[in-house]
Amino acid sequence: MATNKTLTMIKPDAVKAGHTGAILAQINEAGFRIVALKMTQLSTAAAERFYAVHKERPFFGELVEFMTSGPIVAAILEKDNAVADFRTLIGSTNPAEAAEGTIRAKYATSIGENAIHGSDSDENAQIEGDFHFAGLEQF
Ligand code: PPS
Repeated sequence: MATNKTLTMIKPDAVKAGHTGAILAQINEAGFRIVALKMTQLSTAAAERFYAVHKERPFFGELVEFMTSGPIVAAILEKDNAVADFRTLIGSTNPAEAAEGTIRAKYATSIGENAIHGSDSDENAQIEGDFHFAGLEQF
């Protein structure tokens, strides 16, 4: 995956609440091209692997439990400056601090259940894209 890509997951809270379509539309309207897309559900082992970098943090168990609680929608997105621009589009981790109009301001309910994930670096975008998608699934 080139460095103009990022990986997102629409999290179980937002999928369950029926926000998938609106969130994908906002992503498209912000100029991101969907390169790969799927609905899936993470096993506990998969979520622990995806979030392994956070395994020493106090909320790790809660995060894994939440991320395995229902279907997610994973996507690879392409745009110039994708990682940083997507982090701006989704807003702060804590929705109480997220800028107006951002995806988390609109759809997240708490710091734990915050609607959407975006890769935090080009390196992690590559790792996370490869975690969810094989080469043949990327367009
Ligand atoms: S980040 O994106 O790494 O800068 O954000 P960070 O604050 O370090 O959080 C990392 C991920 O952990 C989730 N998180 C939490 N889950 C449950 N409870 C609490 N208190 C909590 N705090 C942070 C946060 O949503 C991040 O998940 P992702 O999927 O990376 O957005």
